[in-house]
Amino acid sequence: MSRKINRIGIACCFWLIGVLPAAKSQDAEDRQLLHSGDAGRQHWMLDGKWQVAVDWYDKGGADEIIRNKQPAGKADFVEYSFDNSETLQVPGDWNSQRPELKYYEGSIWYRRRFDCGVKPGKRYLLDFGGVSNRCDVFVNGEKVGSHEGGFTSFRFDITAMLRSGENLLLLKVNNERRVDAIPARKFDWWNYGGITRSVTITEVPDVHISDYFIQLKKGSRSQLGGWVQLSARDSKRAVTLEIGEAGIRKTVYTDTLGRASIDIAAALTLWSPENPRLYRVRISTEQDCLQDEIGFRSIEVSGTQILLNGKPVFLKGVSFHEEIAQRQGRAFSESDARQLLSSARELGCNFVRLAHYPQSEQTVRMAERMGLMMWEEIPVWQGIQFTNPVILQRASTMLHEMIDRDKNRCGIIIWSLSNETAPSAARNAVLTRMAAEARQADPTRLISSAFDAFKYNKNEILIKDSFSLQLDVLAANKYMGWYHPWPAGPGNVVWKSDFNKPLIISEFGGEALYGNHGSADTASLWTEEYQERLYIDNIAMFDKIPFLAGVCPWVLADFRSPFRMHASFQEGWNRKGLLSDRGFKKKAWFIMYHYYKSMDEKIKPPNNILQLPDKQ
Ligand code: GCU
Repeated sequence: MSRKINRIGIACCFWLIGVLPAAKSQDAEDRQLLHSGDAGRQHWMLDGKWQVAVDWYDKGGADEIIRNKQPAGKADFVEYSFDNSETLQVPGDWNSQRPELKYYEGSIWYRRRFDCGVKPGKRYLLDFGGVSNRCDVFVNGEKVGSHEGGFTSFRFDITAMLRSGENLLLLKVNNERRVDAIPARKFDWWNYGGITRSVTITEVPDVHISDYFIQLKKGSRSQLGGWVQLSARDSKRAVTLEIGEAGIRKTVYTDTLGRASIDIAAALTLWSPENPRLYRVRISTEQDCLQDEIGFRSIEVSGTQILLNGKPVFLKGVSFHEEIAQRQGRAFSESDARQLLSSARELGCNFVRLAHYPQSEQTVRMAERMGLMMWEEIPVWQGIQFTNPVILQRASTMLHEMIDRDKNRCGIIIWSLSNETAPSAARNAVLTRMAAEARQADPTRLISSAFDAFKYNKNEILIKDSFSLQLDVLAANKYMGWYHPWPAGPGNVVWKSDFNKPLIISEFGGEALYGNHGSADTASLWTEEYQERLYIDNIAMFDKIPFLAGVCPWVLADFRSPFRMHASFQEGWNRKGLLSDRGFKKKAWFIMYHYYKSMDEKIKPPNNILQLPDKQ
């Protein structure tokens, strides 16, 4: 299985993007074809209604479902038949599509027919944006491969399995939580299952562009670096890179591994939140071509500051899950992405933490177009079995899949390796290896990990976790006023770090039930006033942290969680949202809004970190 991930690149030449009238076959499926012009590529979207069979006891097997067995004669019968089965919408979680599937954890078979035509000299690549949490994939009864992990894209070359005319694509999707999975068995978000992101088939020439990485070189704002990988592992093939608006057109040649290196001086308008400039980049070879929209910026650390394009930047962030609370379902569409990101912009953010897993490519691309910097992470979240060898392999695969898909998205400034993992030798060994792999795969971005284990000394909070040495940016999840009592008055809390690195408060906050008003000093009442007070107190603390480079409230909106079962205040919702599950602003929202707005007005981040001397 190729790790290289499909890019929703803009194929060169012109597509007539047409949606054929729904060809209502007996499977009641919609066919959506993206016709292309005379490009080297064609795309088919396989989104729409797929037939499904719920297989709670994993009884479905090779003979019946996979081979699409039909009764052979009068005495024969097939129990696992898809004919006239129910359908589910793809993309989408199954939990929110059927009330009886709200809590379902198990296997569901998905099936749809497709006809993409099969031409000699072409290859057919099947791409999945995300399938929760694992799946086996079959084409015309043959197993194509499997994938583990619900939040990263994956691709199979199905050329050998295809036949002309109608083909049958079948998935067995399973969302059971497992102790040796990533995330592990218990996590504070809803365990949505299903084909939760789009499915596409791309027709490419036999020798095609299989991957590319084009960004400014680390530490440079005028030199492009990277590479273009062809599917043929042979040398001297010409690859032409064009960035018309920057006056760039250069032909380079592949090495014996089929990779052509990029190293070009460029005078570019740099991407920034104020001016999220993207360039149309065209890559072409003798047989293939594609286009992408790519932005260019530099991101570095200098002492305790984060520098964007060489200037200190304060990350005014917010975290959110990939969920639309009003629908109690996974976010999957452009409009879902727009709802979440517009809410972040309205709060005054220039940064979003995509928690706790790689979110959809359309969310990432839209955030970049909106000028939002991003933190992207893999779901190495609490309770991971670091002593189990399979974990390193799984975490490494997930990390590479995340970086493979988004390495050309300049809006992403931080790759994060984990969230709240308990300090241990095994944890440090795995995360140290992953930090090295991330830097090797992508030397241009910053590496972080969110921790919550800090030592206290009276009013001091001490950052001593030795793993911090592996990170470019420190990140602390600290719930002062909720899970942790204040060690002193908020303005008297002193943060101390053994490391001369920037710190992001990557999570803070507390719960409130929207519309529930009352005392501001009693946590157990879940009042908006308590949450509001908590935010005011945390901001008083932030203003005293000299090496603070950003804050990220937990969380933008209330979200579904099996952890949260308080009978009157939670009912299956984590209520730390600044927005309610209906999207209404709680009082704390306005505290955060004014905090971020005050920074813009002062045009420098709080506690004047610009003037602080570098710690000796
Ligand atoms: C943790 C964790 C979040 C969780 C939050 C909470 O820090 O990172 O995923 O939802 O705390 O307890 O609400």
